[in-house]
Amino acid sequence: MLSADLAGYVIEKKFKSKKNNVFLLNSGQLGVKYEYLVYKEFSCTNRMQKEIEMLSMLKDNGLPVPEILVIGKDYIALEYLEGNLLLDCYCDLESNDGYSSKPLHESAYHFIDALCSWFKNFYKVVRDITGKSIIMGDVNFRNFIFKDIIYGIDFEECREGSIEEEIGSLCAFALTYDPSFTVWKTTMVSELQRIFTEELNLDKKLLKKEVDNQLLFLARIRGRSSTGILPKA
Ligand SMILES: Nc1ncnc2c1ncn2[C@@H]1O[C@H](COP(=O)(O)OP(=O)(O)O)[C@@H](O)[C@H]1O
Ligand SMILES: [Mg+2]
Repeated sequence: MLSADLAGYVIEKKFKSKKNNVFLLNSGQLGVKYEYLVYKEFSCTNRMQKEIEMLSMLKDNGLPVPEILVIGKDYIALEYLEGNLLLDCYCDLESNDGYSSKPLHESAYHFIDALCSWFKNFYKVVRDITGKSIIMGDVNFRNFIFKDIIYGIDFEECREGSIEEEIGSLCAFALTYDPSFTVWKTTMVSELQRIFTEELNLDKKLLKKEVDNQLLFLARIRGRSSTGILPKA
């Protein structure tokens, strides 16, 4: 499976992925620059081109994203970011704070601020470079890694769209990770909306509408209701 560029590397583990085949590769050599690599084999070459284009542009403009090390026919090899998935940080934060806890602790505000700063920088760079309102397109919490700061890792679904739509989607994910709609999560998301609205200058009403739309969307794709309202077929 591996190309000559990656000769010597062996598969250490397969990452959870719904869209592609993503592996952690090990060089077997301690202390070398790229002891580990991430190998991402794409199911769609158009998406691979989009990911390369976005990762390169973001890296060139100083955003925290992994470096592309090898480009193959249907895969890329990336710098391995040895940190925690944002999803794990989020779940740990809630379990440490308490599922019914309200108001939020300081660490929850640090989480919101770090995420807000990622999105602020992302939207600024893409707007400055392309002149368009480009969004990430898939903001599930497995697409970010926390390693001192937040890194974005998945850009194959980047497209034009509204920021309210994207932050609405972020809120819908934040509300529905298991256990969904806890007191902590609803408090967290209402603070997230307040802070993002202020920092990114969002339309408050539109954002609320988008959160509802995105909850219904998630309910539909997950085949069950995330809102308590049964989705239409
Ligand atoms: N550069 C990286 N460093 C560390 N882990 C990564 C990196 N890229 C991907 N991963 C891991 O692989 C998973 C899937 O990668 P992702 O780029 O989101 O592909 P997919 O399109 O399949 O969702 C991520 O959730 C993460 O756990
Ligand atoms: Mg992903």
